[in-house]
Amino acid sequence: MKPITLGVLGSGSGSNFQALLDAIRDDRLNATVAIVLSDQPDAGILDRARQQGVPHGIIDCAGHTTRFPDKEQIRVACLMKEAGVDLVCLAGFMRLVKKPLLDAFPGKILNIHPSLLPSFPGLEAWRQALEAGVRETGCTVHIVDAGVDTGPVVMQERVVIEPGDTPASLHARIQEAEHRLYPAAVSLLARSHE
Ligand code: GAR
Repeated sequence: MKPITLGVLGSGSGSNFQALLDAIRDDRLNATVAIVLSDQPDAGILDRARQQGVPHGIIDCAGHTTRFPDKEQIRVACLMKEAGVDLVCLAGFMRLVKKPLLDAFPGKILNIHPSLLPSFPGLEAWRQALEAGVRETGCTVHIVDAGVDTGPVVMQERVVIEPGDTPASLHARIQEAEHRLYPAAVSLLARSHE
């Protein structure tokens, strides 16, 4: 069966991108990563791509701290199409994807978020969970729509909040769950794509 072709967008260390690469290497995910793009020129995700020979590039959002300008979304869509991407995976990408990119990949953009959505959308979801005093949180893989961390849920994994958890310790355990969940969710969609 033909592997599904992934394009990855990230702004941070890229540990979720690494989890996808590890799953491909270990035959848990029938996929290839054709391109990695980041809006942060110094992001770890680009170092990982460089070290592992994955084509990569920078998204130019200069002058915009949080916006993802339409012009740049169109350029990203073109790069993804040229690379033959079937499914776009947001892996710690901290800008909102809007119409130009959504229209280019309808229903084909995935995001991983560090909470059990619809609880705690937005920034630092692990901190939001601690401050809310809930006993468990987790992570969600969902299909991206025009909202903030909305869109149909593909898979979720629960993480119990332990007494004494700090934002850092809780986020670390959520990330362990993310690294299992993202490859599993992409694999599920890859099977229905074949
Ligand atoms: C992950 O925990 C991911 O869930 C979160 O950013 C982190 C990126 O880590 N994403 C969001 O909060 C998006 N709303 P990584 O760069 O090591 O994969």
